[in-house]
Amino acid sequence: MSRNDDLTTSFTRLFGGMPDLIARAPGRVNLLGEHTDYNDGFVLPMAINMDIRIATRMRSDRRVYIYSTEFDQRDVFGLAKVERANHTWANYVRGVAEVLQCEGYALRGMDAAISSNVPRGTGLSSSAALELAAATAFRLLCGLDLAPLRAALLCQRAENEFVGVRCGAMDQLISSLGQADHALLIDCRGLEHRPVPLPADVCIVVVDSAMRRDLLASAYNERRGECEAGASFMDVPALRDASAEVFGAYRNAMPTTVARRCWHVITENQRVLDGAVALERGDVAAFGRLMNASHASLRDFFEVTTPEIDTLVSIQQATHGCLGARLTGAGFGGCTVALVQRDAVPAFLEAVHTRYPAATGKIPQAYVCHAADGASVASDT
Ligand code: GLA
Repeated sequence: MSRNDDLTTSFTRLFGGMPDLIARAPGRVNLLGEHTDYNDGFVLPMAINMDIRIATRMRSDRRVYIYSTEFDQRDVFGLAKVERANHTWANYVRGVAEVLQCEGYALRGMDAAISSNVPRGTGLSSSAALELAAATAFRLLCGLDLAPLRAALLCQRAENEFVGVRCGAMDQLISSLGQADHALLIDCRGLEHRPVPLPADVCIVVVDSAMRRDLLASAYNERRGECEAGASFMDVPALRDASAEVFGAYRNAMPTTVARRCWHVITENQRVLDGAVALERGDVAAFGRLMNASHASLRDFFEVTTPEIDTLVSIQQATHGCLGARLTGAGFGGCTVALVQRDAVPAFLEAVHTRYPAATGKIPQAYVCHAADGASVASDT
C-alpha cells in the first residue's frame, strides 16, 4: 500500500469518509552554511525525500481535530482561541493556525490525520516539515493566498513565538521552497534564493549518529547570543556584514570565545558562496573540501560537535569515494551529511555500519537522499 493509501485508511477509520486532499512538506539536510541563517548569512540546504503528510477534510465548524499516526495521539482545538497543547507535536499545528489567523487569514475547521517518515529529533527538521504541511493543508482547504516564501516565514514565526524555539529561517524556507534535484542557495537577509543543480554522479548520504541532542536548546541560544555580541563588538548589524579584515581589526578586543564564533560564521558564509559556484561548475571535489573545512570550523571554532560526531565524520572522510563530510544541523549530536561518488556508496555504507559502532558502541542509521520538491499536494508514492 502507498503512504497515501495508508494515511487515507487511518483518516477513514477515525473520521469516516474520505479526505479532501493530502498535503505534504519535506524534511531537509543542509549541505553547507551552518549557524549562518540567524546571522543574516547564506545557507545551501536541500529538501529531502522524506516528508510529513496531512490527510485533511474541511469541517463546517471552527474546530480542528488532528490525529498523529506516529504518536497514536489526538488533539482537538477551536480556532476562536488557540492555546498551547499538552502534546508537543500538536503545538506545531496550533502555532501555524494561530499565526495565520493573526495575519488575517480566515481559517475553517478541519479533520486531519498526520503521518511522517522524517526521523524525529535527529536534525532533519521534522518540526519545520510539520509546520509547512499544516500551513499547506490550511492554504489548500481554505483557499488562502499564501505564497511559499511567506508561508515559510510565518511557520518560522509560529516556531519562534508559539512553540518557543528561536530558530533561524533556513528549515522552513527549504521545506517550502525546495526543488527536486537541486540544493537552494538562500540569502537569509534579502531572502533571494537560487536553485543549484546537484550533479548526477554523486549521492548525498545522511547518517544519524544515534546521539540525541540533549543540550540543544540552551546551547543554540547561547551561540546566538555570542554571535550577537560579536556583531555589536564590531559595530555591524549582523555577522554577515563583518569581513575577515574588519574581524582582524577587532579580534583582540573580543572575548576569545566570541572571536571563535565570529570566525566560524564569517568563513562559513564564504564557503557557502564558493560551494554554490563549485557545484554549478560540477566541481564536486572542491565542494567536498569545503564540507570538510566546514566541519573543522564547527568543531574548532563554533564548538557544536561531539566526540562521536567527530569520529563519524572522520570515518566517512577516510572512506574511498567520499568527497566530503560534515556535521549538519544545529549540532550536539544528530546527523552528518556526506557527498559520495555514486559507485562508492555501498562501500561507504559498509564502512559507516562497521567502523562507527566499533569506535563508539552506537548504531548509525544511514539514508541515501535525493533532493525533493518543497511543500505541495502529495502525489501517490
Ligand atoms: C537549526 C535551526 C536553523 C539553523 C541550524 C544551524 O536547524 O533550526 O535555523 O540555525 O540549526 O545552521
